[in-house]
Order: sequence, then C-alpha cells, then structure tokens
Amino acid sequence: MDMVKKRTLEFGLAVIAILAVGLCFWLNSTPQKLSRLGYNADEIEIITTQLKRSELEPVFGSEYLPELTHILEGDTAPADFRVEKLADYIQAEQKYSFAPELILKLVNHPDYNMDEEYTEQMIEILYEEYYLTRNQTRYFALVSSTEQELEPKEVVALVNANRDREYYSETEAANIDNGDLLLVNKYYYLDHDFTVDLVEQSASYGSIGERMERETYTAFEEMFAAAQAAGYQLYVTSGYRGYEEQEEVFASYLAEGDEEYALKYAAKPGYSEHQTGRAIDVFTPGETTSSFAGSPVATWLAEHAHEYGFILRYPEGKEDLTGYSYEPWHYRYVGREAAQEIFQRGITLEEYVAVFGK
Ligand code: DAL
Ligand code: ZN
Repeated sequence: MDMVKKRTLEFGLAVIAILAVGLCFWLNSTPQKLSRLGYNADEIEIITTQLKRSELEPVFGSEYLPELTHILEGDTAPADFRVEKLADYIQAEQKYSFAPELILKLVNHPDYNMDEEYTEQMIEILYEEYYLTRNQTRYFALVSSTEQELEPKEVVALVNANRDREYYSETEAANIDNGDLLLVNKYYYLDHDFTVDLVEQSASYGSIGERMERETYTAFEEMFAAAQAAGYQLYVTSGYRGYEEQEEVFASYLAEGDEEYALKYAAKPGYSEHQTGRAIDVFTPGETTSSFAGSPVATWLAEHAHEYGFILRYPEGKEDLTGYSYEPWHYRYVGREAAQEIFQRGITLEEYVAVFGK
C-alpha cells in the first residue's frame, strides 16, 4: 500500500471513529434519552428546563411518566421540587386531582403519609403556623367529625387548646415544672395541697388579705405604679385561692344557675389558675364586674399589662379556646417575655403553652 492510500484509509477510519463517538453522545443526550422513553418535544423542553442533568437519573430509570411534566409545569419554584421525592410526587399525582404546586407542598411536608387520604383543608392544616405534629391525627379527626365549617387556623387552635375533648374529660396533672407558664384549666389540675411562695398584698392598695405568688406580686406593684401614673388606682380582689376557697366560689355559681352556667364563670376546685398564685382579679374603686368591661382602666390594663408580664387571660372572642366567659378583670402573670409574645400574637395561654411550653 502506498503512502497516499494508507493516509486516506487512516483518515477514513478517523472520520468513522469520530462519527461513531458523536452518534453515541447524541444517542446518550438527555433529549434523546427522554424521547426514547416516550416524552414529546414539549415535555422534553419542560423537563430539561426544570431539572438539572444530575437530577434526571430517576427519570431515566422509570418508564414514561405523564404526571412528571404536570408536576414540573406548575408555578412552583423549582426549588420546591425535590428529586429524591419523585416517586412520591408521582404517586400523589396519580391519587389526587390537586394542582401541581399543592402536590409538591403535600409531599414535601415532613409529616406526609402516603396512606392518608388528604383534602385541601388538611394540607392547609399541615402548614398552619401553630401546627403540631403530635396533634396531627386530632386535627384531622376534628375536621371529619364536626359539621361546623372550621378554618384550618381554628382547627389547630381548638385542638392545641384540647377543645376537641369534653371539659373535665381526660384530665391530667398540670405541669408544675412549667414555672410562670404553669397551665391550669379544664384539662389540667393542681393537687389539693398545691401552693406557692405567697406574699400578702399591701393594705395601701385598698384591699386587705389577698395573697399572690412572690414574683407576681413584684410585677403587680410595678403595674400598680404605672397605672397610678396614668391616673388609675388598681387593687386585687382575688389572688391566690386554695382548693377549699375555690370550692366555695364554684358552689356560689352553682347556687345561681345550673352546672353549664357555673362552668362558664368558675373553675371546679383544683382546676382554677387562682391556685397558682399567679392569677389576679384586678379592679379599681367604683368599677364592678358588670361595669368593668370597656371602662378606661380595663382598656389601660388590656393595652399595658403585658409590659409587666401579665396577660388578659380570658379575652372576649376566645371563649371557645379558654373555656370561660370574657373576664376583663382576670390577669395572669406569665413573665414579661411570654406576655409580650402572647399579646403580639393575639393568642391564648392554652395555644402558647401548647406550642412554646414544655
Ligand atoms: N373565674 C376563673 C375562671 C376561676 O374560677 O378560676
Ligand atoms: Zn379570676
């Protein structure tokens, strides 16, 4: 073979080799691989725009998935798409007729359970601000058992406050290690002999003999001084109430009406937060329980008590959560930090302790 022929042959082989390698690359290219799996040009466009090459392995490893482009097509930022959840997205996509972004939201949630039957309302519940994993089954049970139209926010608040349970049912000992956040209500009780370090209110405040927990009293004195500077005279008509005293209070309401009536206004003995020593009924001379709501001093207290660590414990409009009628005079010491939070968030102690307490 002369040199020219040899060179020509070598050149030809080189061209064939290059073409062969090129063909291999082409056949192995993402669009070609997707096309061989059955995706059409539009679908390939969507997939290659939304997924990186490194994320495509599960797609190459599956059969043609018509649902995939539906999921990827949504307005959801691609950041929401987690390729490791691809199989779950597909499964959910086949099961539900939700919008793609809702499928991603549902499957991405850490508590997602593929055997559950989700409704849109349940997905909203999963993303509620005060949603608690430990209460998930109770939220869903409440939704399916009630005829009421409840907003997801209400469902979460009600269950966090135990309101999916009957009053005084499934009661538990209050968590006395919770300090200023000690929660006592129709579900959490204190022992008959529970007491705290108590201080007697100064007679200069106008009411003799009422006692309260030491730190609560210090905070009350500061609030008293601030109220006085604003032109109001505060005094406490009821602070700490032991078990027996609460027995009398409850009995006095029972004497006025039936049990349903009494339960709205008073706690059964052992279930009153007055026994914590951190609850106070605050008045000013001239105002009574019937005139207190809306009075200037009540307004001042509602706006400023949190600055001293107190919260309005049974607010108007939250009766369903606290279990008590509106009590504009009943304040509860929870410490400054919690009081600020509760005030700013506009929530009850029940909700706060469920989410932020021990
Ligand atoms: N009045 C409040 C709810 C109590 O009896 O503790
Ligand atoms: Zn009270």
